[in-house]
Amino acid sequence: MSKKIASARISEKSSQLLQDLNNSLPFDKVLYREDIEGSLAHAFMLSEQGIISKEDFAKIESGLKEILEEIESGIFKLDGEDEDIHMAIEGRLTEKVGDAGKRLHTARSRNDQVALDFRLYVQRNTQTIAKLLLENIATLVKVAEEHAETMLPGMTHLQHAQPINFGYHMMAYASMFKRDHERFMSSYERNNYSPIGCAALAGTPHPVNRQITSDRLGFNAPTLNCLDTVSDRDFALEILFNISTMMMHMSRLSEELILWSAAEFKWVTLSDRHATGSSIMPQKKNPDIPELLRGKTGRVNGNLVALLTVMKGLPLAYNKDMQEDKEGVFDSVRTAILSLQVLAEMIADMTINKEAMEAACMVGHLSATDLADYLVKEQGLPFRDAYHITGNVVNLAEKKGLDISELSLDELQSIDNRIGEGVVALLDNRASMNARLSEGGTATARTLEQIESLKDWLQKQ
Ligand code: ARG
Repeated sequence: MSKKIASARISEKSSQLLQDLNNSLPFDKVLYREDIEGSLAHAFMLSEQGIISKEDFAKIESGLKEILEEIESGIFKLDGEDEDIHMAIEGRLTEKVGDAGKRLHTARSRNDQVALDFRLYVQRNTQTIAKLLLENIATLVKVAEEHAETMLPGMTHLQHAQPINFGYHMMAYASMFKRDHERFMSSYERNNYSPIGCAALAGTPHPVNRQITSDRLGFNAPTLNCLDTVSDRDFALEILFNISTMMMHMSRLSEELILWSAAEFKWVTLSDRHATGSSIMPQKKNPDIPELLRGKTGRVNGNLVALLTVMKGLPLAYNKDMQEDKEGVFDSVRTAILSLQVLAEMIADMTINKEAMEAACMVGHLSATDLADYLVKEQGLPFRDAYHITGNVVNLAEKKGLDISELSLDELQSIDNRIGEGVVALLDNRASMNARLSEGGTATARTLEQIESLKDWLQKQ
């Protein structure tokens, strides 16, 4: 279609290899909507400012709207030899409306054009991801509410540590996703400034009004400095970082789901909709989905590091290196959206095997700390002495093949007669969990408080 519409200096046709290396159309065609919206706003501003005529604007406007339909209906395929989406659309517009189309690029460069298109894309997808995060938080909160009394061994070093409830565990992830949501929203606010009207790097002698384009495109205001604006890809780095952090949280949850699905745990059962079989072992049910979520986290981290590396040595302003900014972002955004959709569905559908979780609480003397705390609080022992006495009690339980919560008062007192009557009840795992009543703690009452607080927050979003 539009060959070399912007090559006044170049007379020979480009080598095929140059085109293969140089052309971004095969991937930046994703930006066609943003490109057309940006051009509509720019052309409107040009006509408002008397830089182009109202007649030319009318032609440009109807031409661009037709092109949008042509693209969406597949008539205009975006697989030609054009260098990028900007040239493809401008070329098609000129075919359709002639000279008016050639006036569209007045007071604009592809440098501010691509900065605009890409920023619009990032802003929109930031909102999509933030919304999906809210759905995931709501799902986790719902599971938490159903399981604020379901006990499982809380772990450190992947060793049984203290009894907690499953709702509390889910609320830990809900809290991470809440911070992720806040990170996306704060990036959105920080980057919601309009790049268009900056031209190549230095502004333009045409009497543009950047406020008009900014308003039409839904930005807070035009950016401050044009040299920065055409050079900056912080907004893209921010979405990449936000996705990486969010996926890192998702990956930790996935890792736990994988472990908990194993025969050694059997704490959760993923629904058949979210598990796959083996091609050779007929008995197998594999947790491929959480494994993929965990694996994709590596990929999005790669995209973040790739763009940081592309940007680190670039002199101001635009350099063609920056065309490398897009594929990683498109990939991370697609990955984040799909992963969040799958995660919400998988969490909502999984079965929580309460009996297996609670049985696991009888392994590992989870309430041992409660005995030490009792000796300190009720008998005035220094903590270190209490710690040693408790160690001896644990050794006795081990010798008898029992959990500390199963020892009788006589057995407890055989180690130290300062252990009083109430202790047997204290060492019960549920009592132990509910004793952790400090703010943010695991006691069911505190867990329910956390659930209420996140529900309130969700309602305000
Ligand atoms: N396809 C280019 C990119 O993605 C558009 C900007 C080109 N600007 C330029 N001066 N060559 O970065």
